[in-house]
Amino acid sequence: EQHDANRSPFPPMKKVIFDTDIGIDDAMALLFLHHAPDVDLIAITTGFGNASVSDTTRNALYMKELFNMSAAVYAGAAMPVGSALGEGYADFVHGKNGLGDIPLTTPMCEAEAMPAAEAIVELVRANPHELSIVAVGRMTNLAMALALDPELPSLIKELIVMGGVFGYNGHRGNVSPVAEANIAGDPLAADRVFTSGIPTTIVGLDVTAETVMNEAYIDQLRQTAGASGEFIHQISRFYFGFYEKVIGKAECPIHDASAVAYLLRPDLYRTEAAVVRVATEGIAMGQTIHDSTRRVFATDDWLDLPTCNVCVGVDAPAVMALYLSTLSEL
Ligand code: BDR
Ligand code: CA
Repeated sequence: EQHDANRSPFPPMKKVIFDTDIGIDDAMALLFLHHAPDVDLIAITTGFGNASVSDTTRNALYMKELFNMSAAVYAGAAMPVGSALGEGYADFVHGKNGLGDIPLTTPMCEAEAMPAAEAIVELVRANPHELSIVAVGRMTNLAMALALDPELPSLIKELIVMGGVFGYNGHRGNVSPVAEANIAGDPLAADRVFTSGIPTTIVGLDVTAETVMNEAYIDQLRQTAGASGEFIHQISRFYFGFYEKVIGKAECPIHDASAVAYLLRPDLYRTEAAVVRVATEGIAMGQTIHDSTRRVFATDDWLDLPTCNVCVGVDAPAVMALYLSTLSEL
């Protein structure tokens, strides 16, 4: 039965899989999903990236326990499907444990036995056309799921990816001048996902770097968002320290939570439909290259492929306000 928005006081629930390499800003995004009233978070799938997959899985289980989440946790990829730009984990950004090196206790709960890629296939098959996937790490788990089940693109409701950069609003890469970390960490996986036909929106640095948290914003969260605000304050100490060294200011872009913001309020973003390919080698490795012209070039690498929605603009104050009000307990 179709939901009648005019009659029901409740918005329809969005069933969500969160694919993540938790991660400080991933943790902020997870709390956003947790507090959003119209989100039913059914699974957290983990992968390597900000830390090893065993650490990101531990972080997911730790947060599940701390915040009493019902989502099942599935451990995923430990390494890319193709080659990666750069080596090691982003511990200089997220701390050795991925959560800004705050002291962590060993969680009592455990990950499910099924690997993340298989779980994605199973959950999508069990909920055809109903699942939104919010992917904020490498695209590795998704590429592996596609290899297991090539029919997935027609069964997933929507995929929202935090990753990539296209040069809008003056923004450039954070791993190379043209590459963003989630894509650079497994360019081949990203190329496969973006050309697969899954209805995909890409929330890249072009828009995530437009939304920035400073200390005053964190203080506001701490005052209004209870245990979540306190947790965000703790984990962001290390993150702010990193940004202070790099840009000379104690503030951080809202990367992964922007993908959740798009899920909740797509109207706050301006998008452009384009075929998106990823450079898998050479000096541009990890670059996301889009074409919306459908022109016949000397190469047909962008021709006759499904398009993604690329975010090119954002109502930044509205996104910042949405995050604060969603987490607020006042
Ligand atoms: C992305 O890289 C990771 O470090 C963050 O968690 C985010 O997903 C930003 O480039
Ligand atoms: Ca991430």
